[in-house]
Amino acid sequence: MRGKKVVILTGAGISAESGVRTFRDNDGLWENHRIEDVATPEAWRADPQLVWKFYQARRRQMNEVEPNPAHEALAKLESEIEDFTLITQNVDDLHERGGSNSVIHMHGRLQTLRCETSKQIETRMSDSDLTDDYVYCNCCAEPSRMRPDIVWFGEMPMHMEEIYSAGESCDVFIVVGSSGHVYPAAGMVHVARSIGAHTILVNYEMPANGEDFDEVHLGKAGEILPELVEKWLAE
Ligand code: OAD
Repeated sequence: MRGKKVVILTGAGISAESGVRTFRDNDGLWENHRIEDVATPEAWRADPQLVWKFYQARRRQMNEVEPNPAHEALAKLESEIEDFTLITQNVDDLHERGGSNSVIHMHGRLQTLRCETSKQIETRMSDSDLTDDYVYCNCCAEPSRMRPDIVWFGEMPMHMEEIYSAGESCDVFIVVGSSGHVYPAAGMVHVARSIGAHTILVNYEMPANGEDFDEVHLGKAGEILPELVEKWLAE
């Protein structure tokens, strides 16, 4: 894999062994909520308190979890591959804390909040920013309420130009821990295949788009990815 252009796309499965719940568990609920009740602009308009408390709990939880060997393995890959892009659907900061330097967060981030008026973002993770009270911006003359800096269903994912351009020019495209249900992320493997890239999947179980990969490795990412990375670097 050395000398090749490598693009990685991660999903909730890579953070599962750190103790962060994935989205599509057997009960179909995300931390006891239906996704549409907490992760849509309509939900924020209808019941901002519920949505705010939900994301504040996710933001607090992020401080309590640690990166796992899968995050660290990708950081190692990044340090040894010259042309390397890491794209994540995850909103946690576990890739960064696991040692990755340049992470593209296509679905936003938990550590930043967005001013509802100016749309400017601020990193707001101090203790007083993590209570169930709303947080107000520092950018407006009359401080405005801030919303989670998250891409909700029905909203446009971030950095898409950069993401497509990476996918359209890679030699190897690797997905780790994603169910392949949410587009456009799930369609990136088609983009990579269309230009002849070698596609690899590392996932706990066979996902919806599993047939689209040239190579499939089933298992827990924290257990199998470190060894795979060693193998890829030796090739
Ligand atoms: P999902 O929860 O849909 O899928 C997680 C995948 O990870 C599943 O296929 C699991 O089998 C797999 N998995 C679980 N534990 C694993 C482990 N230890 N190692 C490897 N794989 C494991 O999560 P995503 O595909 O990331 O969007 O979901 C995509 C988007 O849907 C999320 O970014 C989120 C959600 O709604 C937004 O919030 C905008």
